[in-house]
Amino acid sequence: MNIQLDPQSKTEKNAVDHFRSDVLNGLQNTPKKLSSKYFYDKIGDHLFQEIMAMPSYYLTRCELDIFKNKTDKLIDLLIPGNESFDLIELGAGDAIKSTYLLEQLIRKGIDFTYMPIDISGNILSILHKKLSNQLPKMKITCLEGDYFEMLQKAASLSDRRKVVLFLGSNIGNMTPEEAEDFCLHLNSNLSTKDRVLVGFDLKKNPHIILEAYNDKEGITASFNLNLLTRINNELGGNFDVKQFQHYQTYDPVTGACRSFLISLISQDVMIDNTKISFEENELIDMEISQKFSPENIRELGEKSGFTITGEIKDAKKWFLDSIWQVK
Ligand code: AVI
Repeated sequence: MNIQLDPQSKTEKNAVDHFRSDVLNGLQNTPKKLSSKYFYDKIGDHLFQEIMAMPSYYLTRCELDIFKNKTDKLIDLLIPGNESFDLIELGAGDAIKSTYLLEQLIRKGIDFTYMPIDISGNILSILHKKLSNQLPKMKITCLEGDYFEMLQKAASLSDRRKVVLFLGSNIGNMTPEEAEDFCLHLNSNLSTKDRVLVGFDLKKNPHIILEAYNDKEGITASFNLNLLTRINNELGGNFDVKQFQHYQTYDPVTGACRSFLISLISQDVMIDNTKISFEENELIDMEISQKFSPENIRELGEKSGFTITGEIKDAKKWFLDSIWQVK
């Protein structure tokens, strides 16, 4: 198996130190803030799987529709001339959507190497095993580590054209400023004529959006509250999770869908000898899931140094995969 280890990969201890300092800094801010990138421990991963299976959470099914039913159009936009290339996926996870693309590329006899990048070596080993069984002819090089360090690594491994996938509206979990920085950085880590495909959740009827994040079953609430439990388990915190309540908002003008936790009482929480005081009804800003208009998307691509090559929507026109080329 071909797994490239990031030589600077953080040790587990470094990762915990990072987690601790991000949590303490965020909770000493006004307003208090935690980063949704920490939602994904074992329980968080499981809760996210449950979210994706909820009838109201349409995002995954919409992008799957594009990958399953518009695969040839994707290939036309991603690989002009069917030349050989490297297909890089940022945060590949289980790669269920991209597997439809991989299968079709193999069927068409296009020469490519699939390079999934993930911070988790464990996820990559599982993915490698699954794809080796499913697509034994495919060349796969797993890259474990930070996205941008691994993009550099991918560039050092071959000088073929790179096509980068960043799916699932993960870009929506960045503020508009962070998304612009991310795209600029992506552009500067690629070469002329490389292409990227970024998945965006579109602005739509605000009720549909709010329902996707405000389920009556409380799965999204548990997903948010689980971060407090994670802080208790990994950083020695003593959050009384019952004393916090999930609150979701969607602003159809800006497209910002945001989740908060509300402290139900005035309370003190200890984390690693640091006291964090909450007033009754004080908020913790937990996550942004930004929604976009097609114009917002084109503007973002152009501002970050790309030419917009095409876009594909799902059958409902709720989700958009935008394809950009480095100028
Ligand atoms: C991973 N990310 C794109 C999800 C989203 O829709 O923002 C995370 C999520 N948060 C609540 N539900 C799903």
